[in-house]
Order: sequence, then C-alpha cells, then structure tokens
Amino acid sequence: MKAIVNDAYGLPGGLELRDVDTPAPRVNEVQVRVLAAAVNPGDWDLMHGTPYIVRLSTGLRRPRNTVLGLAIAGRVAAVGGSDSAFSPGDAVYAGIGHGGFAEYACVSVDRLAPMPSNLTFEQAAAVPIGGVTALQAFRDVGRVQPGQRVLINGASGGVGTFAVQIAKALGAAVTGVCSTSNVGLVRSLGADQVIDYTQEDFTTNGQQYDLILDNVGNRSLSELRRALTRRGMLIPNSNKGSGRWLGGYLRRAVQAVVVSPFVPQRLRPFASTDKREDLVALTGLIESGAVTPVIDRTYPMNEAAEALAYYGSGHVRGKVIITIGQDEGHEHGEGSGAR
Ligand SMILES: NC(=O)c1ccc[n+]([C@@H]2O[C@H](COP(=O)([O-])OP(=O)(O)OC[C@H]3O[C@@H](n4cnc5c(N)ncnc54)[C@H](OP(=O)(O)O)[C@@H]3O)[C@@H](O)[C@H]2O)c1
Repeated sequence: MKAIVNDAYGLPGGLELRDVDTPAPRVNEVQVRVLAAAVNPGDWDLMHGTPYIVRLSTGLRRPRNTVLGLAIAGRVAAVGGSDSAFSPGDAVYAGIGHGGFAEYACVSVDRLAPMPSNLTFEQAAAVPIGGVTALQAFRDVGRVQPGQRVLINGASGGVGTFAVQIAKALGAAVTGVCSTSNVGLVRSLGADQVIDYTQEDFTTNGQQYDLILDNVGNRSLSELRRALTRRGMLIPNSNKGSGRWLGGYLRRAVQAVVVSPFVPQRLRPFASTDKREDLVALTGLIESGAVTPVIDRTYPMNEAAEALAYYGSGHVRGKVIITIGQDEGHEHGEGSGAR
C-alpha cells in the first residue's frame, strides 16, 4: 500500500510517498481503508521530533513509527477475530496513535466508531482529535454548566472551532479569541462574543470567565488568571513555546501543579484520550446539527508535505485534511485477517 513515510525527524520536505507493507488487523482490531486523514498538532510534533521529550516514546534518534496520521475516516476493509461489532464496508472514524497517512490502517475497536451519517469522509476525519479534546475539556475536566462564562483562546483552530460549538451545546456563554480575519468564522460557530486579539487584550479588559481553554499558550499563567473569576478554572491546552526540550504543555502542567495549592482558582492541564464513547457522543452532536467540523484546506495524498507545511504556519482555520482515496463502497481488504 502507499503511505506517507517520515524516516527521520525534520521538516515536511522529508516526507515521502512510497510503498510499505499493509498492516493486518489483530484480534480486536479493524483494518480500515483510509479515505481521509486530518493533520493534527501531534503529527507536527512527531514529524519534527520536538519537543525532544516526545522522543522518549517515539524513538530517540529516528522515529520508531514512520507513518504519521492520528485521525482517520474510511471504510472497514477487514476485521480481526470472528466476533466484531464492525463489518467490511462500514463507514467509520477514529483517533489512532499513528499510521493514518496511509491507504490502510489498523485500529483497536475501542477507538473506532461509525461515522456521522451527515458528514463526508474529509469532514469526519477532522473530528477525532480536535472534537474529542474539546469535548473532554468541557464535559469532563471543566464540567461546564449552562450559563457559565467560557473563554476560548485560539477559537478558530482545530480544537477551538469544536470548542466554541461544544461549549454552546453545553449551554455556556462563549467568548472566542482569534485574529481579525477569523472573527466572522468564530461568530458563525455560535460564539456570543468574539475578541480580535489584534485589537483587544482579553487579560486586561476587565472581563472575567468561569473557564478559560487556552489553545495558544502565548500568555503567562498570571495573565490568564487575571481573566478568571475567583473560583474559575484554567485548562492550559497548548503545547507551543518553551523551547525544544519540554514544550509548552509540560512546562505549564508543572507550573499548574506548583501554583495550584496557593491560589483559589483551579488550573487543570489534561491529555485527551481516543475513546469510542466520545466519538459516539460527538456523532450525536454532529447529527443533531449542534456541531459541524470546519475544514480549511484539503490536499491530495501526494501533497502531504504541503499540507503539513501549511499547518505549520500556525494560522489554520479549523482543520487541514489529506484525501487518501476515493470511496468505492464495500471492498475486500488487503489484510490477511486476524494474526
Ligand atoms: N491536551 C490535549 O490532549 C491536546 C489535544 C489536542 C491538541 N492539543 C494542543 O492544543 C493546541 C491547539 O491545537 P489546534 O489543533 O487547535 O491548533 P491549530 O489548529 O494550529 O490552531 C491554532 C490557532 O491559534 C490561533 N492563534 C495563533 N496566534 C494567536 C494569538 N496570538 N492569540 C489567539 N489565537 C492565536 C490561530 O488563530 P488565528 O489564525 O486567528 O491567529 C489558530 O486558529 C496545540 O498546541 C496542541 O498541541 C492538546
């Protein structure tokens, strides 16, 4: 099968489209004919090998898993084992650890869900990381209640566009922060208020929020706390900044642990996890019309390097998608069944 291969850590120019072995599904796995995959922040980090701390799990000198791709949509090609909830031909979507920028990927059944019936494969691939992160941040970590004031810094990106819609669906009064050209987009997603960060600083305008989801990481902890109510919660969600070794996420997580006992506000970094139940919950929100994925650009598979380079600009609107194949409905997988 064809795959986008990342043999060495570096920039998108090092990615190569070439033939690799097709993965076969183990018991409790499904082999998916991938039709679309999304570019996610984790793909950039795994491609580049920074912050260096990620290499402890991905390979110190070179990537252990050379095929990137954390989020996919496609059709089941083969199932591992004889007792599966899925059948060949089912339209599915999933967040997977790696291997999505390829014609076939194997996914554990507990990460896989039937795709929302009202989405294209490109739209569906946009959902698993950004949508799941926003859902888990607001429903599980923030426990957002109707009427609470929620601010999303970085409201126009891959997490932010889902966050605005999910916070609204939970009944919050939502403020989104983005640049001038994205004000209309964020408003159209349902934000009650939009702050253009080129015109106004949300940390000094006197407004306070019950919950801030920070997807950008460009403000200090004390600046963000100034925009929180006395018992408010900050979810620092960005991995940007803070040098090549630790990355912003870990630095802010350590800061949060150190500062939390001394302040009334709650500082709650978290790592999202790929779970079938959360995709099922998102399917409900999407099919009801409460949430719609936003796609900025779509690239063919042979332009994956351009897709990653565009993502690396730091100003995408929603998601960047790589189209991997054409939907031919039910087909027989290349996999050899369970192993
Ligand atoms: N906790 C977890 O498990 C988890 C899971 C997924 C992602 N993340 C992290 O979440 C972060 C965001 O991911 P993403 O997919 O949303 O990234 P993204 O798609 O690259 O979005 C970044 C957004 O940041 C905005 N931005 C840039 N500069 C800004 C500024 N000065 N003020 C306000 N907004 C600004 C951009 O909007 P404009 O173009 O309008 O400037 C852009 O829309 C990443 O750092 C990622 O590592 C964490």
